[in-house]
Amino acid sequence: MQHENFQRAVLGWFDQYGRTHLPWQKERTPYRVWISEIMLQQTQVGTVIPYFERFLARFPDVESLAESSFDEVIALWAGLGYYARARNLHRAARIIVERHRGQLPTSLEELSALPGIGRSTAGAILSLGSGIRAPILDGNVKRVLCRHRGIEGWPGNPRILEKLWELSEALTPSIRVADYNQAMMDLGATVCTKRNPGCSTCPVGRDCEAFRSGRIDAIPATKPR
Ligand code: ADE
Repeated sequence: MQHENFQRAVLGWFDQYGRTHLPWQKERTPYRVWISEIMLQQTQVGTVIPYFERFLARFPDVESLAESSFDEVIALWAGLGYYARARNLHRAARIIVERHRGQLPTSLEELSALPGIGRSTAGAILSLGSGIRAPILDGNVKRVLCRHRGIEGWPGNPRILEKLWELSEALTPSIRVADYNQAMMDLGATVCTKRNPGCSTCPVGRDCEAFRSGRIDAIPATKPR
């Protein structure tokens, strides 16, 4: 399948079924996207929403977060779990104020140098927050790409991972990159699910190698032991 056809199918699906009214989508800023992406790293959308609203009401910008005490940050985080995320968020806010004049960096290198921001989160912040063309590769996107291309290896294998990054980079469009990346995450979360995926409603199901070969349940492979 040509990259353009893949992009068109994914974006067409997004126009019909994608999520467009999440709190961090209403007013899109790199700061709001950053906070939401950190919260969403290990937590479901429905749980995150009230936490996100409270957090943004108290810390509307990088400065307010950097100036607060960690105790206050953790109080708003209580219940979300994975508290290292809150620690990293607070540390990163101080670095952004000290070294980046309070603005989130606009390069992948500088963003992913910040505590708690990996390569995929950096791509999400640039694309969703600023419309800058940057690939993402979270667990959902890995599953979609592995299945569509029939990639049999374990996605945690460095060689497979590099191949997936190359593929994600090649497929990422230069227009509508925010919609495309959001669509890929939504597709993985709602259609191309780990178990019982909805292949009959998948916009790229007809070209899916795993579907064609009956390998949906085997791909992506689990960690070899
Ligand atoms: N998980 C991580 N980022 C997400 C996003 N932007 N939307 C939905 N789920 C996500």
